[in-house]
Amino acid sequence: MLGIQGLSFQDINTLLDLADDYVDQNRQVDKKSSSLRGRTQINLFFEASTRTQSSFELAGKRLGADVMNMSVSTSAIKKGESLIDTAMTLNAMRPDLLVVRHPDSGAVALLSQKVGCGVVNAGDGTHEHPTQALLDALTIRRRLGRIEGLRIAVCGDILHSRVARSNIHLLTALGASVRVIGPPTLMPGGIEALGATAFTSMREGLEGCDVVMMLRIQMERMTGSFIPSTREYFHLYGLDYEKLAYAKPEALVMHPGPMNRGVEIDSLVADDVDRSLIREQVEMGVAVRMAVLDALSRHLPNQ
Ligand code: CP
Repeated sequence: MLGIQGLSFQDINTLLDLADDYVDQNRQVDKKSSSLRGRTQINLFFEASTRTQSSFELAGKRLGADVMNMSVSTSAIKKGESLIDTAMTLNAMRPDLLVVRHPDSGAVALLSQKVGCGVVNAGDGTHEHPTQALLDALTIRRRLGRIEGLRIAVCGDILHSRVARSNIHLLTALGASVRVIGPPTLMPGGIEALGATAFTSMREGLEGCDVVMMLRIQMERMTGSFIPSTREYFHLYGLDYEKLAYAKPEALVMHPGPMNRGVEIDSLVADDVDRSLIREQVEMGVAVRMAVLDALSRHLPNQ
């Protein structure tokens, strides 16, 4: 499971339908089932994570797998061991599933060629974050009943965002009209070739939108100056009620987290229980990751 690109309409809907069932299971007192019983899942995160790592851990455990979290900060990677040597070392312990996050685009795909188990991309550089896009789609589908025909804006630091890329692939595949909005310095060349329409004005881009998905400004990936100041960025692109009014009156707000409050989103909007889906996104994350692990476990290369 390396990206949304390459998944069919049917693949995506099968995963979303399976995840819907896991939402119900996760709301029961007994949240456990056994589709991964006997399986070993290793979470290998070369970048920080709160939501993705913890939800993959919960997902694996709720499906009955033995789950190990590899801490990169205390591993031999700190002594200079390479990504591939690390992967082959872990592979020798015969895991069934590796969940990997890495700062370099393409690193997870490279690693997947060296191991004999299922590999899930938990975010690779600026390339893809497929389970984030799936959980976003599930959140929208459950609230609005459909994806097809919706106008969805993805706003902010498009240049550095793997979430934006995965969402453009997924939402356009399901029939949504996707707009990307951000300053010219944070808008990658060729983004429209993926099927989105690009805007540099929030007023123009948000017009008629059903959903407004805000993105984190990724300071850690910026070398040089992409925005004049966070204060000016908020003035032009930060989502407050004034800018949200450019969208449809009932438009919903999303953010993958972690949020920079007061930079890309105003706290009042982020915490608005009527308009913000941010907490639902986190809940859907566990169900979607259960669906992905379950589906992958049925097709493991080391069966
Ligand atoms: N949305 C997301 O990927 O969050 P984490 O970095 O906390 O996993």
